[in-house]
Amino acid sequence: MRYLTTPIYYVNDAPHIGTAYTTVTADALARWHRLLGEGTFFLTGTDEHGLKIQQTAEANGVTPKEWADSTVVRFQESWAQLNISNDDFIRTTEPRHYAAVTELLQRCHDNGDIYLGHYEGLYSVPDEAYVTPAELPELERQGREVIEMREENYFFKLSRYEQPLLDWYESHDDFVLPKIRRNEALGFIRQGLRDFSISRTSIDWGIPLPWDENHVTYVWFDALTNYLTAAGFPDDPTRFEDLWPGTHIIGKDILRFHCVYWPAMLMSAGIEPPTNVFVHGFLTVGGEKMSKTALNQIAPADLIADFGVDGYRYHFLRDQPFGPDGDFSYEGMVARYNADLANNLGNLLSRVTTVVGSKCSGVGPAPDPDSALADVVSASLEAATAAWGRVAPSVALEETWKMIGATNAHLEQYEPWKMEPGADLDRIMGDALEVLRIVAVLAYPAIPASSAAIWERIGLEGSPVDARLPEAANWGGYPGGLPVAKGDPLFPRIKA
Ligand code: MSP
Repeated sequence: MRYLTTPIYYVNDAPHIGTAYTTVTADALARWHRLLGEGTFFLTGTDEHGLKIQQTAEANGVTPKEWADSTVVRFQESWAQLNISNDDFIRTTEPRHYAAVTELLQRCHDNGDIYLGHYEGLYSVPDEAYVTPAELPELERQGREVIEMREENYFFKLSRYEQPLLDWYESHDDFVLPKIRRNEALGFIRQGLRDFSISRTSIDWGIPLPWDENHVTYVWFDALTNYLTAAGFPDDPTRFEDLWPGTHIIGKDILRFHCVYWPAMLMSAGIEPPTNVFVHGFLTVGGEKMSKTALNQIAPADLIADFGVDGYRYHFLRDQPFGPDGDFSYEGMVARYNADLANNLGNLLSRVTTVVGSKCSGVGPAPDPDSALADVVSASLEAATAAWGRVAPSVALEETWKMIGATNAHLEQYEPWKMEPGADLDRIMGDALEVLRIVAVLAYPAIPASSAAIWERIGLEGSPVDARLPEAANWGGYPGGLPVAKGDPLFPRIKA
């Protein structure tokens, strides 16, 4: 089984185009793998413990769990709106997760990798948080009480895993992709690894350590374990065996946790590290970092209102290559939408359905088995398949759109709208319908609802979700003789 995950997002924050970027990308990948006929399990969820949530809940006069219950809905609704096809939604406050974290902690402890130590540092009492010396002057200016704090913490012996991690990277070349992120993780390991704190006594909103109830697990140990919980760890070994190891899709901000801490924790517990960690860059808005305080976090719903769900999904998959940082601009989104969706794909669909309506009595003809477009399709299919395989949706879609471009050019060359009904016209229209059918399958991971609409308009039964690649992209699958409907534009042009 292919097991794909997104990070679990802090339940305190609202979904924005950054968290949606990871989620949409993971969704498209999951859909792609389902098209290939692979059993796929896709997980997302929320991270609900820790000081921030405890404090916000208190400020709102509710318990932390009540607070999480009321805010988690924002993620669930947003992902439903974006047509995210997750098979499970994990919340770290669920009993199943307590069981998994407790078991993982116990295993690492039994293996001698957890010890009691001390954490020393500056602590802001009103903020209930450790602060850095650099933050001190500002806090003092605000009259906040900052003390030297020495707290008992349990530590995980990360230092013991330096060599095992280097060996793991050495023998698993594709563990972290793209390469620049792999090098970043390796560079961090080579600098020498320090043990990290895994518990707190100053917080109580969390999962208690099984051997010392005065401590709760510090958020990262808790959060990372979600990937095991949802795979059935520890109570369903058959399911776990089937799902684990998984593949994580994350942003570069949490690379160390996923590519260094996490595999070490798993090794300590005798569990295999993940198959892959795919790491993408960060989106900025007009060149600026997004943040709550800068008030520049864009909610997906605001863009969906203008571009539709598929317009939204397509933009981020096509225009924001997976890996490097990228800048979001509304103008760029309008330009891409108009060029690729309203013009290229939208035009093809409307030309074909119009001509079939007026010159073929609304009945779609079959394609020519020897069409020149068949070669274009097979070249694009090969390139798109390779691109999805290396998590490059932008390239995969670019390749898919080459078929559309070639078919529009083909129509412009023959101008079927000026032709008389007959065998020549039928051949041209059959070829174009066949390309639309194949595009509906290949673009389905990005624009699932529109793909289904195209499928229906050209008279096909079922939906692209049931198609299986590569067979579904073999030339000649459109049977002909099906009713073709014109309908409204799928992607109305947007004025810049
Ligand atoms: N709760 C932790 C993750 C625990 S996973 C075991 C956390 N949550 S988060 O809500 O802050 O989400 C971080 C993730 O959101 C990033 O890794 C990335 O996937 C996504 N993004 C958040 N801001 C982003 C951008 N500006 N651009 C792209 N992705 C961004 O960290």
